[in-house]
Amino acid sequence: MILHIVGARPQFIKVAAVLAAATMPARHRLIHTGEHYDADMSDVFFQDLGLPAPDVHLGVGGGQHGAVTGAILSRLEALLLERTRGVVVVYGDTNSTLAGALAAAKLGWPIVHVEAGLRSYDRRMPEEINRVVTDHVSQALLCPTRRAVTQLEREGITQGVFNTGDVMLDIARQNATRAVGLTALGQFLSGDRLGPPPAPLDHPALRGGQLASDEGYVLATIHRASNTDDPQRLAALISGLGRLGRPVIWPLHPRTRKAMTDNGITPPRSVICTSPQGYLEFAALLAGCVRCITDSGGVQKEAFFAGRPCVTLRDTTEWPETLHDGWNVLVADDLDALVRAAGAPTPNVLPNIEAYGDGQAARRCIDVMETYLPD
Ligand code: UD1
Ligand code: UDP
Repeated sequence: MILHIVGARPQFIKVAAVLAAATMPARHRLIHTGEHYDADMSDVFFQDLGLPAPDVHLGVGGGQHGAVTGAILSRLEALLLERTRGVVVVYGDTNSTLAGALAAAKLGWPIVHVEAGLRSYDRRMPEEINRVVTDHVSQALLCPTRRAVTQLEREGITQGVFNTGDVMLDIARQNATRAVGLTALGQFLSGDRLGPPPAPLDHPALRGGQLASDEGYVLATIHRASNTDDPQRLAALISGLGRLGRPVIWPLHPRTRKAMTDNGITPPRSVICTSPQGYLEFAALLAGCVRCITDSGGVQKEAFFAGRPCVTLRDTTEWPETLHDGWNVLVADDLDALVRAAGAPTPNVLPNIEAYGDGQAARRCIDVMETYLPD
């Protein structure tokens, strides 16, 4: 069997892309670690993307990194010990990725890492530690870009490395029409998934159901520890969002909502906070925005795929291809740079999406996974 270990929002999206390409679905099993557990961080992706219900749910909720990683590791080890040896597939760079890779490595199961070889070269990011360790214990390294292959080479990893292309490009392409069909703002404001945001994040524009869409809105997401753990930095970034001269739609990650609530941070009037959106709603919002502001890895790329200029609230990125021709600009926490970049003209050359493959990455990933199955 091929066991796919996932637990966080971006991993549900990646595994959906991969499983859609499986020619023999009976060979695949989905293990949900429980790292993300709210319905709008988990269930909604299963519905939107037609994922089968997980075969096993490990039920590890929130907590500190060590506790979460340790709990996944021990529950997964128990699960693997009960099973006939197969292949473990891990995705991206979360604690579920690291724990899945370690559990398999200790038991000698072959590990396939989807999204291997990415580096921000910033070891202060928990995700960077997860990526490096996972790559160094994996047997098959499925790289989304040529650069990722080269980065692995520099670390001495040359065996089992495949340049598959990026599975997130596959799924973005497959769903582009469905997403745009939602007519972003209409669906967004009337959508039954959008519960009213609790005080103090309520906003008059949402209550009245009115948003001046013809002005053009900015779409924002912020959830990185580097931006949410320091209340002063978070408050400053939010004040920066209020200086853009446009409405900002901001689906709040639970981590960010908690940081705002705990520290009494309220957004300016032009910033409309909502619950996390489903994949299709979010893609529709992205397609309709004039600018995207984010610290997410995946959203930087999706903006690039959709031809929406992006401003990234970080000083490094593991997706440097998006920086070409000014499609993505890194501003860290420099608010003047944020306002400048958000108001800059749209680049006049198309984004070089081919850097992320041809939209057939998932098929190549499946082919590699099958070669690692024992006879
Ligand atoms: C995790 C990943 C990050 C990824 C992000 C995707 C790690 C180290 N971090 O960050 O790489 O970019 O997911 O979104 O694995 N929470 C909820 N409900 C949920 C999920 C989380 O309330 O469904 C709360 C947790 O209790 C915690 C906070 O949000 O207080 C942060 O969650 P955590 O899983 O630690 O990290 P993320 O920021 O979600
Ligand atoms: N996303 C979503 N709803 C939202 C915000 C993001 O569906 O409200 C999707 C987005 O389209 C992308 C993925 O979540 O595919 C990125 O996840 P996130 O930013 O949480 O994690 P990262 O990519 O930074 O690891």
